[in-house]
Amino acid sequence: MRTIPALRRAVAAWRAGHASVALVPTMGALHAGHLALVRAARRRARRTIVSIFVNPAQFAPEEDLAKYPRTFDTDLSVLRKLAVDLVWTPPVEVMYPADFSTKVVPGGPALVGLEDRFRPHFFSGVATVVAKLLIQCAPDFAMFGEKDYQQLKVVSRMVADLNLPTRIIAVPTVREKDGLALSSRNAYLSAGERAVASALYRILRTCAERIANGELIARVLDEGSNAIENAGFLLDYLEARHADSLEPVASLDEGPVRLLVAARLGKTRLIDNIAVRASATFSPSLGP
Ligand code: PAJ
Repeated sequence: MRTIPALRRAVAAWRAGHASVALVPTMGALHAGHLALVRAARRRARRTIVSIFVNPAQFAPEEDLAKYPRTFDTDLSVLRKLAVDLVWTPPVEVMYPADFSTKVVPGGPALVGLEDRFRPHFFSGVATVVAKLLIQCAPDFAMFGEKDYQQLKVVSRMVADLNLPTRIIAVPTVREKDGLALSSRNAYLSAGERAVASALYRILRTCAERIANGELIARVLDEGSNAIENAGFLLDYLEARHADSLEPVASLDEGPVRLLVAARLGKTRLIDNIAVRASATFSPSLGP
């Protein structure tokens, strides 16, 4: 579907039959990570909408909007096989008419110095389009991947702050056999870069295990950063943050910890993240 009245009619008919609705927002070039979100949506709700919209508002002028992978026909046939009820794929002029002049400007987890430090335009573009998608589709549930962990937190915060009547559901990251998180942008990697790319997750996992085993966070991150650069990446950040607020943490006592990384391999920028699962031995709640 490509127009708002057509979308609204379809959703209204479902609602009239008391069907629950789940939305999976995507920019297309679908891979198994997206499909895990679709399956999770199908389990949650009677009706599933997948949106495919390459959102110009979240790309900076020097970024890859023009060459972002577009595989629309394949995407549609994959979604048909998964029995998705509706694909919402509005043209840019439907999403952003010429006189469009309103933006959502997120704070909190959107301003913690991770992705926002390197892509300052990004979360406003994401929050604006996700708010519009949620209002257009009015779903009971919307599925987001943990792969884009800061985005998940920004969207959850926005939905709470604006009292949008949709529950945000987090879906774990789907990975290649060697650990590389699936991403539409992996298509940019050369064969040589692809061979190196899996080091990112391997190093991330080693760091998480060492921190869980009680090693000093600052030291582990220092060594992890060196390992990432030695593997051939240019590191944007490797940080330990509170898993909910995304504020910096210096030790496991400060709450559930998430490690987040962004690094460039040639022209491709990869991001990933992992939970630090504190082992019982070092849990601060266990006394002597
Ligand atoms: P896109 O990169 O297409 O991702 C769509 C959804 O799929 C996001 O929620 C993302 O976290 C999830 N996803 C991507 N790779 C994944 C993986 N390997 N495992 C699990 N989930 C994965 O994120 C966007 O699009 C856009 O910013 C969007 C939210 C659609 C707004 O334009």
